[in-house]
Amino acid sequence: MTLLKIAKMGHPVLRQRARTIADPADPAIRRLVEDMAQTMLDANGVGLAAPQIYRDLRVIVFHVPPERGETGDAKAPSGITALINPEIVPIGDEMALGLEGCLSIPGIRGVVPRHRRIGYRGLAPDGTVLEREAEGFHARVVQHEVDHLDGVLFFDRLHSLADIAFDEEAHHLLERYQPQDRG
Ligand code: NI
Repeated sequence: MTLLKIAKMGHPVLRQRARTIADPADPAIRRLVEDMAQTMLDANGVGLAAPQIYRDLRVIVFHVPPERGETGDAKAPSGITALINPEIVPIGDEMALGLEGCLSIPGIRGVVPRHRRIGYRGLAPDGTVLEREAEGFHARVVQHEVDHLDGVLFFDRLHSLADIAFDEEAHHLLERYQPQDRG
């Protein structure tokens, strides 16, 4: 296991479209996924995308800690999910506002609109197809991480720059919006 350095906002790797992984069965991909999972947990993150560790590849890891799941969000997976070449399809057109942070933008949070429900699919590191429906915080994390694969940061999704705050002031955003997703 290796802890990886995390790219911060401003590095060009975070602004490019990452490459599709041609050989998901490559053992190097499995090692990469393991290192990404360790790096995410070490940094107290809930998700990490390969561009955030300077790798131009379409792979993400994430988890939904039980305390972050929402009422009725029974479908949230336990443990860490790794997805290779993930794709998302929104279900319905309902949007939800929720507080997000990003390991590449440390110390800052923002109120970000996301699809309330999505379907997503991709390959697990063992080569099997993983297909799920997600809602609430689970859906939010997956959308945030897949955005990273397209060079998109949560700042790009804000309604207004007034919707960002430093961590210690972020409760003011919650007071203002009373979002459905208290991420
Ligand atoms: Ni992020």
